[in-house]
Amino acid sequence: MPTAVYPGSFDPITLGHLDVIARAAGVFPRLVVAVLVNTRKPVQRDADERAAVIGEALAEAMPHGGHGVEVVKFDGLTVDLARRVGADFIVRGLRAVSDFESESQMAHTNRKLAPGIDTIFFMAALEHAYLSSSLVREIALFGGDVSHMVPPAVLRRLPQVSPA
Ligand code: PNS
Repeated sequence: MPTAVYPGSFDPITLGHLDVIARAAGVFPRLVVAVLVNTRKPVQRDADERAAVIGEALAEAMPHGGHGVEVVKFDGLTVDLARRVGADFIVRGLRAVSDFESESQMAHTNRKLAPGIDTIFFMAALEHAYLSSSLVREIALFGGDVSHMVPPAVLRRLPQVSPA
């Protein structure tokens, strides 16, 4: 069955990520959303929680709870995970030209490591192109409104900030 992995930190998952998942799930009968356990970036939530939130968000946002979409945690190389789950493709989202440099470097590196595995990019939907998890974390930290940036499953977990 054509399978793709969509790896990321997802700290937290945003509406932009969800849009990429929905569109990739329309192309690949099996999509494995892969939550990196030990990211190079500092993360706010552990991988168990990041994965649980994605599961809830999929159940709420996608028809049939995201049938064909699996959520796993992984450590190590994305290409090794792709091989383990039998994926021939890696899915990534592209928001702006600024993403291109690091994403092309990753795509070329992954192809060197695993020539049989190709990366497919989805352009972020225009309304989500400005979104990033780090922006969401910062806004939430200061009590700003992120309700138009993340799914309800993320909102439910944000600490309630009392008005000043
Ligand atoms: O959501 P992110 O943080 O932009 O995702 C980055 C991710 C997880 C895709 C990338 O860091 C990754 O693939 N890490 C796993 C380690 C690996 O395979 N490194 C070589 C890729 S060039």
